[in-house]
Amino acid sequence: MNDRFSLELRLPEDYFASTLRADVLAGLSAPPRTLPPKWFYDDRGSKLFEQITDLPEYYPTRAEQEILARRAPEIAAAGRAATLIELGSGSSRKTRLLLDALTAAGTLRRYTPLDVSVSALAEAGEAICRDYPELRVTATVTDFEHDLALTDEPGPRLFVFLGSTIGNLDQAQRALFFGMLRHALSADDVLLLGADLVKDPAVLVAAYDDSQGVTAAFDKNVLSVLNRELGADFDPDAFDHRAVWNADESRVEMHLVARSPQRVGIPAVGLSVDFAAGEALRTEISVKFRRESLTAELDAAGFTVRHWWTDPGARFALLMAVPSR
Ligand code: SAH
Ligand code: AVI
Repeated sequence: MNDRFSLELRLPEDYFASTLRADVLAGLSAPPRTLPPKWFYDDRGSKLFEQITDLPEYYPTRAEQEILARRAPEIAAAGRAATLIELGSGSSRKTRLLLDALTAAGTLRRYTPLDVSVSALAEAGEAICRDYPELRVTATVTDFEHDLALTDEPGPRLFVFLGSTIGNLDQAQRALFFGMLRHALSADDVLLLGADLVKDPAVLVAAYDDSQGVTAAFDKNVLSVLNRELGADFDPDAFDHRAVWNADESRVEMHLVARSPQRVGIPAVGLSVDFAAGEALRTEISVKFRRESLTAELDAAGFTVRHWWTDPGARFALLMAVPSR
């Protein structure tokens, strides 16, 4: 392995195993049943997500890519970052636009991708090391809701959180997350945040229920994760994937709906779950934002939004924020 690349787990060794158990107990013991979306992303889930980003119905990746392609030089000039820290980096595909601009500006020394997916970090990190010979890549397996696991990254630092993964957190989770992030930022650091915007519900629902069934496979993959990690006996074919627009909460929700009454055992947590026919297990929320309320959330956490850029179709926003105090 390249000596410019490291891949580290900076959480206690049993963190993921114990958190998964706690999440399953909290989410599946009683209706309405829910699971946090972070458990989608094992090796197969990360690959399925990458396939989603190429689907004709899934516009967010292309929209955000358009904004990044246009604004990357401006972003690089504004932050003059020595380190780019990326939360939920996945394949780091769009990040290359920023790495290119920061490399051209001559400031960047380090790239620190953070993700729960070891396979995504390993693949993306090694490829970036190969393609950017001046860069040190310190990939870190962590749960960004729990600990950003930062160490000695040189500043100024550009924190990036792309893809509207922020929308996979509810309002209370976002408040905690933004608070933690604000605490991590120094006065000369900058935050770049991607956020999907409210639009026609038909466009939104299609983006989460594509005609090729890739999103359905991604959704059901979480059941395979529970089968493998907790010895559960979910039959993924006994559930239907459903995407709905919840206007009151301004979010798309993904549900797995039991086709028939069924009992599922989850031995590792001592649970036996009875699903009624038609009962839904909510596997993800994907909040869609409006400028005013997202700016207010950031403001409450101690960030000032300096730029708000959208794609020409105003489907997606990329914002740049700095610490306010
Ligand atoms: N940023 C990429 C990938 C988005 S998919 C893009 O814009 O295309 C969401 C990514 O966040 C996945 O790689 C997933 O593994 C990661 N992720 C989800 N929840 C996480 C958490 N709690 N902590 C760290 N990474 C997380
Ligand atoms: C990672 N996250 C922002 C995606 C989203 O759009 O909420 C995950 C996803 N779920 C279904 N399709 C994509």
